[in-house]
Parts: sequence; C-alpha cells; structure tokens
Amino acid sequence: MSSLLLRNIKGLVQAETEIRREVRGAGMAHLPVLENAWLLMDEGKIAAFGGMETCPEHAEKVVDVAGRFVFPSWCDSHTHLVFAATREEEFVDRLRGLSYEEIARRGGGILNSARRLQQTPEEVLLEDAWRRLNEVMQLGTGAIEIKSGYGLTLDSELKMLRVVRKLKEMSPIPVKATFLGAHAIPTEYKENRGAYLDLVVNEMLPRVAGEGLADYCDVFCDSGFFTVEETDRILKAAWKYGLKPKIHANELDFSGGVQVGVANNAISVDHLERSGDEEIAVLQKSQTMPTLLPSCAFFLGIPYPPARKMMEAGLPVVLASDYNPGSSPSGNMNFVVSLACIQMKMLPEEAINAATLNGARALELENECGTLAVGKRANVFVSKPMASLAQLPYSFGSNLVETVVIQGEMWKNNLMQ
Ligand code: NIG
Ligand code: FE
Repeated sequence: MSSLLLRNIKGLVQAETEIRREVRGAGMAHLPVLENAWLLMDEGKIAAFGGMETCPEHAEKVVDVAGRFVFPSWCDSHTHLVFAATREEEFVDRLRGLSYEEIARRGGGILNSARRLQQTPEEVLLEDAWRRLNEVMQLGTGAIEIKSGYGLTLDSELKMLRVVRKLKEMSPIPVKATFLGAHAIPTEYKENRGAYLDLVVNEMLPRVAGEGLADYCDVFCDSGFFTVEETDRILKAAWKYGLKPKIHANELDFSGGVQVGVANNAISVDHLERSGDEEIAVLQKSQTMPTLLPSCAFFLGIPYPPARKMMEAGLPVVLASDYNPGSSPSGNMNFVVSLACIQMKMLPEEAINAATLNGARALELENECGTLAVGKRANVFVSKPMASLAQLPYSFGSNLVETVVIQGEMWKNNLMQ
C-alpha cells in the first residue's frame, strides 16, 4: 500500500479531531468542514489532514482536487443486496392500483423473491450481488450491511448468508451480515405459523450462529408479517447466540415494532414510516437508533417518517438505502440524502451526518468509518467541482461522485465479467 495526498480540497467534510460516536438531535445540524485543506492517507488509513498552509510536500501519489469536496464514504446500514431477480411486474401492478400489502397477500412480494432465490445457484447470486456492491461503491458507499430473508428455508437462508460471507471476504469495504429468516411466513406455513417460528428459532438460528454467518438478527415486525410476540420470541432467542437485533418496524402500521425492538435492546429500528409521539418517546429513553429509508417511502408512495420531529426529540437519526427488489430497487445513497432533504426537510448537514457517522454507529463501525479522523479507514469520495456542500443533495439524479478512494487507493470497480 502506498500513501496518497489529496491537496487543494475545497471542503474536507467530517474532518474530526474530537472523536464522536454519533450525533443526536440539534447536534446533527453541525457538520465539521475544513476549508482549503489537504488529506494524507497511508497504509489504508487516514494519516493526517490540515489547512493548505501546512500541506506536506511529498507523498507517493499527489492529486490536486481544487474546487472539490472530500467526504467520508457513505455507511449504508440497511440493504437486501443479495436477491435473485428484479420485480418490475409488481411495480407495474402497483401503478395499476394494487397495494404492496395486496401483492404480498397474493403470494407476490417477498414470497416471489424467495421462490426465485431458492432456484438460483449460489454462484449466480454471488455474481449479481458483487455487481450491485461494485455499483454502490462507485456511488460512494464505503461500508454496508446485507440481510438474508429471501431464503425462508434452512438451506436457502444459509445459501444467502454464505453469499454475504463471500462478499465480506472479497470486498475491500466492511460488510456486516444480518439474519432475516423472519421476513415473511412461507405459504406452506400460512395455517401453522408456529411451526415456521419453531424452524427459525430451533433450526435456523443455531446453524446461522454456529457457522458464524451473521452479525445481527432482523424480523419484519409489521401488520401482515410478524407480530410483536413473535418478534419478541425470535429476538430473545437471537440474543442467546450473541446476535443483536436490528429490526424492520412500523413501515405498514403502528405495529408495536419500535417498542419491542427497544425492549430487546436493538441496535436500530428501521423504516418507521408510521411513528408518532409514543414511538419517539420510547426511542428517547433508549440507545436504539432510528434508521429512516426514504427511498422506500418514495418508491411505495407511503408517508415519509417524521425525521424533523425525531431530531427535535434529540434522537440520532440514521439514513440508509434499503436496496431491495420490492420496495427500493436502488442503493444510491446520494439519492437517499437528496430525498431526506427534499421530502423530510433534513438540512444537508443533518442528512450527511445521518448517512455517515450515524450510519457507521448503526453498523457498530464508528471507530473505523463515518468521519475523517486519524486512524480510521481511508474510505472517502471526492465530489465533482461544487459551489457549496448543499449542491450534493440539491443535484438529485446527477452523479456528483467523481472519484472513489478505498483503503487509501484510487478505486476502480472490479466486475466479474
Ligand atoms: O425493507 N419491509 C420489508 N422488507 C423489505 C422489502 C422486501 C421486499 O419487498 O422484497 C423492506 O422494505
Ligand atoms: Fe429492508
């Protein structure tokens, strides 16, 4: 590995001398930006930074980035990046008036993805997921979480998680794996939900944990999917194996998902499109992070979560992409940040904090990623020339990510052809 010096940086975003684990509430509007700066990366890590008046003369590679901003890479803490097929037929069904829930009740949705995934060989899943991972890295993502949940049988859940493990091994960015066996009740268990719960708790969890295939456990706790009691049972069982909860909650209804997540010390509760004062009050008394997925609300045409109310209540809001074939067929974190501003009225500074440092915290990677602090991973991106920081969320639909640096090296995508 070699040293790389970026000089004449217009704004060095999240340049941090005092280490913060996360940013909450009103503090989210504060985003440190060092103007007219340099950044030195060495041995894959952030080595030093400062104002141009102190710029070092030498490094193995020196790049002048005048007019450009340098950001810590996005930390995308919620994705379903491993899947077998896109679902544009259901997209068209929704355009014609069917709801997401109606499609799911007819055996489409997650069950449709599960049927396809069960028939798809592991190598094909890996090749497709690797292409998607490279695509989002090109768009500035530098740490990511990936869930199972389209297997829904012991073999297929293990197959998905083995694909995630291979991605962990192959990828130059950190990858966290989440077991989501309780994503939907398979059709053959419709009349006997308890038997599927038993399968998840008594067979899937021990195998997943025994083979070290997951870092977290998720449940889709929502109307039409898993109840609060079922969620509680799975999360308690997962904790016995050291798998911390990160759950889907309150997307389709005021489901009690936030409450059961908090009661089980979840790292994060994600979605929260249906949350009010009660959910916010419960989160205020906890360490659980609220993770918002605005590209899902955008794609499904459902209400956006109340991000401003959450920040006013002092919560550490997180933004993630939810990249999946059913509710957010995009992993573009730049678009997520734009939507957070445009639709949830987050300020650019708040949205960038939510997608970097708070995203890192929701992945328990805050010591490695999320800000530009000496010793952290040198995963950063350089913007195209921009007049100000706000131009990034403002320019929705344009790609302002010009150069990606991973582990201190200029990165080019590495697609398996
Ligand atoms: O986060 N809500 C649950 N799971 C995914 C969507 C799954 C799908 O439709 O395939 C989500 O939105
Ligand atoms: Fe999701």
